[in-house]
Amino acid sequence: MIQQQDVLIIDFGSQYVQLIARRIRENKVHSVVVPPGISLREIKEVSPRGIILSGGPSSVYDKGAPTFDKGIFTLGIPVLGICYGMQLAGKLAGGTIRKSGKREYGRAVVKFDRREPLFNGMPQEGVTWMSHRDKVAKLPSGFHSIAGSANTKNAGFAHPGKKIYGVQFHPEVVHTANGGKILKNFLFNICQCEKTWTMRSFIKSKVDEIRDEAGDKDVILGLSGGVDSTVCAVLLQRALGGKLHCVFVDNGVLRKGEREKVKGLFTKNFKLDLTVVDAEKKFLDALKGVSSPERKRKIIGRVFIEVFNASARKIRNVEFLAQGTLYPDIIESRSFFGGPSETIKSHHNVGGLPKKMGFKLIEPLRDLFKDEVREVGKELGLADELTARHPFPGPGLAVRILGPVNKERLDILREVDWIIIDIAKKSGVYKKTWQIFGVLLPIKSVGVMGDMRTYENTAVIRAVTSTDGMTADWARVPYDVLGEMSNSIINRVRGVNRVVYDISSKPPSTIEWE
Ligand code: XMP
Repeated sequence: MIQQQDVLIIDFGSQYVQLIARRIRENKVHSVVVPPGISLREIKEVSPRGIILSGGPSSVYDKGAPTFDKGIFTLGIPVLGICYGMQLAGKLAGGTIRKSGKREYGRAVVKFDRREPLFNGMPQEGVTWMSHRDKVAKLPSGFHSIAGSANTKNAGFAHPGKKIYGVQFHPEVVHTANGGKILKNFLFNICQCEKTWTMRSFIKSKVDEIRDEAGDKDVILGLSGGVDSTVCAVLLQRALGGKLHCVFVDNGVLRKGEREKVKGLFTKNFKLDLTVVDAEKKFLDALKGVSSPERKRKIIGRVFIEVFNASARKIRNVEFLAQGTLYPDIIESRSFFGGPSETIKSHHNVGGLPKKMGFKLIEPLRDLFKDEVREVGKELGLADELTARHPFPGPGLAVRILGPVNKERLDILREVDWIIIDIAKKSGVYKKTWQIFGVLLPIKSVGVMGDMRTYENTAVIRAVTSTDGMTADWARVPYDVLGEMSNSIINRVRGVNRVVYDISSKPPSTIEWE
């Protein structure tokens, strides 16, 4: 059941749909993403101040292409169509959409009619981000063009009387200069929205939603100590109190001191019902001799389910599994433009668990981006030390040790990683990076220590900047900080005599090495 919202976003399958929602949240306006099948009656019940039609991979003339009830145009609610959304609105209003000879993808300079309320305060022309093959060839009656590019005459249209607008480009992506201004104009000049959405209102509505969903049943959560599961746990605890049960699995591939840290924090500070499972041996036995990155990931995923399941079965009345899944976790495992999706890496925390375990799923953070989750954490009163923690992958150090994983190599990497993080925190580098960590290579090289020949391992310092982990650049960590890390590692960690710095961005590399 949808509640009263300020803006409805109808999702036609765009990879950017949650980005639109996010841009709206940035303006403190409430929005909700709904499927194309939403009925006119439901929309009337919600009585939104505006409707956004998202982009999508289809062509409006494709068989089975998603569409909407064109009665929407009679409700007097302002509508903004983006890309496919514009083409569909154009077609349903009586215009003609045609395949253009050339697919327009990427940067395009667009001229804006600045007299239009949608383009208030915009420069006369600017760079936009396009991604389309079709375009509006003939405008529907009552519509006029409000923007144009060299390739697309009708890069924007408007029917001022009905308050229907469309743009062929994507104002929600950062590559569109002043795209934020366009959305702001739509929200405030055209829809007269009010700034009522805050992190506090988000938390309140999620708490209500979780209570509604779980009823009197108990909920189990796999707690890792990372930002997402921590925020998820604290949010669920607020909603459900003692009905929340957390399980922390020590899989033996965690960072130094992690188990003690999590146990202390969550049992003492948060007073959560927490079960700590020591499964190090089980995981390491299963990983013995395995070098393939995907096999490592699959093994860790499988053993995690076994261990978690055994622990969950001991708790009665559990019907729900909560997960701190974020939006980028979902989008990374989905293909763009409807093409077959290629598995780059198997993320064992997305999707797989509930199906196999027979629990219903609660994912209160699934629409949010990482920085928004950090904001939720702050609003819930979590310390900076927790909300600012760098991401740590489910398969842990196993995907940072190239080649077979064993206790000895894990202990080496734990020390290396601990030194890197410690120096990163003291030097201020930790706050400026998305992730910084150590990797252990299956390469030995010759060194000299105290006049003695050494033949030891090579460690890597990996540091990246990013906004969501989907793309990343290698971080320009100051040389003296890198020097201090290298010195400390080589002097203090037995088994490492060489340290190298990874200068690859994503793409074409990835953040983790496996
Ligand atoms: P990659 O290496 O694919 O990583 O560039 C992107 C982001 O995802 C994290 N990562 C994972 N997180 N389960 C997780 O929860 C996983 O299996 C997993 N693998 C990678 C990685 O640390 C980076 O932040």
